[in-house]
This record gives sequence, C-alpha cells and structure tokens, in this order.
Amino acid sequence: MAVTIQWFPGHMAKAIREFEENISLVDIVFELVDARAPYSTLNPEIARISANKPHLYILTKRDLADEKLTRQWLNYFHSQNSAAIAVDAKGKFGVKDILTAINPLLKDKLERELAKGMKPRPIRAIAVGVPNVGKSTVLNRLVKRRAAQVGNRPGVTKGQQWLKADNHLELLDTPGILWPKFQDQLIADKLALTGAIKDSVYHSDDIALFGLEYFVAHYPQALQERYKLTEEDLELPTADLLLLITKKIGMRDDYERASNRIILDMRSKKVGPFTLDTLEDIDNE
Ligand code: G4P
Repeated sequence: MAVTIQWFPGHMAKAIREFEENISLVDIVFELVDARAPYSTLNPEIARISANKPHLYILTKRDLADEKLTRQWLNYFHSQNSAAIAVDAKGKFGVKDILTAINPLLKDKLERELAKGMKPRPIRAIAVGVPNVGKSTVLNRLVKRRAAQVGNRPGVTKGQQWLKADNHLELLDTPGILWPKFQDQLIADKLALTGAIKDSVYHSDDIALFGLEYFVAHYPQALQERYKLTEEDLELPTADLLLLITKKIGMRDDYERASNRIILDMRSKKVGPFTLDTLEDIDNE
C-alpha cells in the first residue's frame, strides 16, 4: 500500500518537549485513542515520558467501534494498572464519568495529602492524542465554557491555561497533538482509514482496498449487506471487488470516486462498526 505519511519531526519534537515540560504539573495523563484503533493511536514516547504517572485511556468514537473488541481493549488497559473508559464524545458523557474512572487511581494520593494537612484540591490532568481523535470534542464537553479558566500559575508554559472542568478536575490546555507509532505501513493504513491522517496524503483507492480487505476478513456480512454482494463476490481479488462495488453504486468505472465513497461509508458506520486493532497486534510486536 502506498500511504506516504507527511511526518513532521519538528512538530513532533515540539509537542513532546511541551509534554515533557508539563508532566510534573499534573496528577494524571489523559491519553485519547480512537476506539477503532486503540493500539495504533498510542505513542510510545508519551508512554516513556509519563511512565511514572497514572494514565486514563479515553477510547473515543465508541459508537463507531466493534463493541466486543472495545471491551477487550478496556480490559487490556485495566490490566496495565491504568484507568480506561470508552465514550461517544458526542453522546452522553461528562466529568462524572471521568472522575469515576480515575478516582481509584488517585484516591490514596489525595488522602495522603489531606492527612498531611494540605488543603483539598482538584485533580490536575493533561490530555494528549493523535489528530482527529476527538480531543476538542471531549475537552469542550468537560470544560463547558472557555471562561472557566483558572488563571496563570507558575511553571505553566506561556499561552497555556488551566481549565476548570468542575471543582474536582482541572485540565492543562495544551495543543497536545502527537503522532502515533509509524513503524509500519499497516499502522499508516489504519490511521488513514479512521481519519487520523489527512486525506490529501494518500491515494483513496489504496485505503478503500485496505478497508475492503479488512471487512472481507472480519466483517463480511456487513459488507455484503451494504453493497448487495453475494458470498462469491467476496472471494474476488480485492481490486476486482472494488470495481464491482463501483458499478453497483452507479459510478461506472470511476473507482476513485467510489473509493472515496467507500471510505466515507466506513468512517460513518454505514457499512457497520469496526475495529482494526486486536489484542494479537500486541503479541505480534
Ligand atoms: P481533535 O480535536 O482530536 O482533532 O478532534 P475533534 O474533537 O475535532 O473531532 C474530530 C471529528 O470526530 C469531529 O467530526 C467530531 O465530531 C468527531 N468525533 C469526536 N468524538 C466522537 C465520538 O465519540 N463519536 C463520533 N461518532 N464522532 C466523534 P467532524 O466531522 O470533524 O465534525 P462534526 O461531524 O462534528 O461536524
């Protein structure tokens, strides 16, 4: 497959540096991952820098993902002694869900502080995630008004603010954009299909072929239903399947336009929910 990633080491270095500068100011890291690719959207650098901090993994876009695999991934993150929740960031979700998830990780620390005579204080968090993962949606949901800023505090990089989610939770407002693992092409394909990589940097037919291959292997029925395919159709070489679907959706031989349609169908759950990472991906590393 030919996804050429526009990968910006300079931007990455800046984001990592900012994260490194701020990590000592927070109690916990909120790492946002796409529930459709919860492993491919992780960043090993972030894990390294924040190894000593508790983590809450927020699996966004739960509504678009394979529920069974989402449960497996939540169990996986819990088994790593982290907190993890899966959310539809556009649905019912709020500060309470976050606090319930992180409370067990931070309870002892906050109680120890109280026992030492320190004043009760809000939990402080920093959020990071790949582009398009839903970070703004989640943060906007938690911090209802930008006016709810806490004001400058020493040690906070210029231009950054503590945002108040409620009396118990403050978030450090940073761009927090990071780049995921790029060690192999498969990850690039997954990120392109889920929309973490800009459409302009790959060929849509490559990604449509990747998506079709994945659905044939993992969700054949959903594909059959969406594009009115027979079981024999699914046995076609993937390129022929793409041409067949192109005809079926009335696009004659314009397989590029059909590819874009297929990608949009997949992203918007019109084909069906799906998840591209399985726990075997960890074992295979
Ligand atoms: P970012 O800050 O991490 O870059 O992501 P952002 O919040 O801008 O979200 C990227 C896209 O993903 C937005 O769609 C947003 O609505 C959508 N999104 C975020 N979280 C969820 C979720 O949990 N479920 C679903 N289904 N979608 C989610 P958009 O097409 O860019 O905008 P719009 O559709 O909201 O107009």
